[in-house]
Amino acid sequence: MADKLTAVLVGCGGISRQWLRTVTQLEDFRLVSMVDLDETAARRRAEEFELADVEISSDLEATLERMQPDIVFDCTVPTAHYPVTLTALEHGCHVMGEKPLADSLDHAREMIAAAEAAGKLFAVMQNRRYDPNIRRLKAFLDSGVLGRLTTVNCDFYIGAHFGGFRDHMAHVLLVDMAIHTFDAARFLMGADATAVYCHEWNAPGSWYDQDASAVAIFEMTDELVYTYRGSWCAEGLNTTWESDWHIIGEQGSVTWDGAEGFKAQVVDKAGGFFSEWANVEVPEVDGPTKHGGHAGAIREFVDCVRSGCAPETICHDNVKSLAMVFGAVESAESGQRVEIIV
Ligand SMILES: NC(=O)c1ccc[n+]([C@@H]2O[C@H](COP(=O)([O-])OP(=O)(O)OC[C@H]3O[C@@H](n4cnc5c(N)ncnc54)[C@H](O)[C@@H]3O)[C@@H](O)[C@H]2O)c1
Repeated sequence: MADKLTAVLVGCGGISRQWLRTVTQLEDFRLVSMVDLDETAARRRAEEFELADVEISSDLEATLERMQPDIVFDCTVPTAHYPVTLTALEHGCHVMGEKPLADSLDHAREMIAAAEAAGKLFAVMQNRRYDPNIRRLKAFLDSGVLGRLTTVNCDFYIGAHFGGFRDHMAHVLLVDMAIHTFDAARFLMGADATAVYCHEWNAPGSWYDQDASAVAIFEMTDELVYTYRGSWCAEGLNTTWESDWHIIGEQGSVTWDGAEGFKAQVVDKAGGFFSEWANVEVPEVDGPTKHGGHAGAIREFVDCVRSGCAPETICHDNVKSLAMVFGAVESAESGQRVEIIV
């Protein structure tokens, strides 16, 4: 592989800005082409970032044949992740794509098999893992202060008036947003989902065409239970985009507001009707920690392409978060508890 890595970015809509802010700043790295079905979208974005040398195209296949880049960054809509990823892998490229990994579990499995067959990395953007606050909570949980974890609850209430494709999308909250929260839950617990029961609905007054509210109960490995309550049409008293968390262990509990608000208590003296509890700090991580959202995830991926290591959000792991989404969707549609099989 040449010292200078080359990349093609495909899908030049809203989120591509986040990617380009980092991709254009990487050292020993060259973005050679930007592709979008709508060529004017690609041209507009290239002009915005003053990328005069970048080739603009609406034909991914022809671009990959001509440019033979090392990497494809996939910022297309969810339904296009499958064809774009397969095309990129067939052309010998490593792929990092936007969440969700795929629009179905069957497609996800095919994409993972294709990455294995090609011997290339395929990772997914889960930018919310690259946040010092979630890292701080994870370090606190891993320290064992709360004892063995038993229960994790989180609330996501955001009244987002997007306009555009989300207003009409099926299972919009579960498929487009809850993937972030479910992935964060797996990360914090160090556990995977084994079954789910989910109820989904479109609340009166919702400005979405389809269900934008959901409640889900997940059975997790290690006998953990994780509950999710979410709405994308909640006016007032919104939570952070990272959700509001309440986590219980055998020896204490912690709450996290998704930003810098932490509260924790542990058992100081047991034996009474109520134990005596002591407030404890959730310490900041001592030393460097993953951060930077999109920038952190992209930099890690590019480092892994160079070193041959696996990035944290590699498809083999990320598919376990995607399986929570599609398990919840299946449960909501069937009204039944659904076993989660990756
Ligand atoms: N990680 C995050 O926080 C975050 C935030 C927003 C969006 N996203 C994800 O990013 C992706 C894109 O979202 P967006 O808001 O930018 O959407 P968007 O509709 O603004 O842009 C998508 C672009 O992809 C292009 N496109 C679609 N199919 C294509 C194909 N087959 N080949 C080439 N171009 C194609 C469209 O023409 C459009 O310009 C989605 O998967 C979304 O879930 C992630």
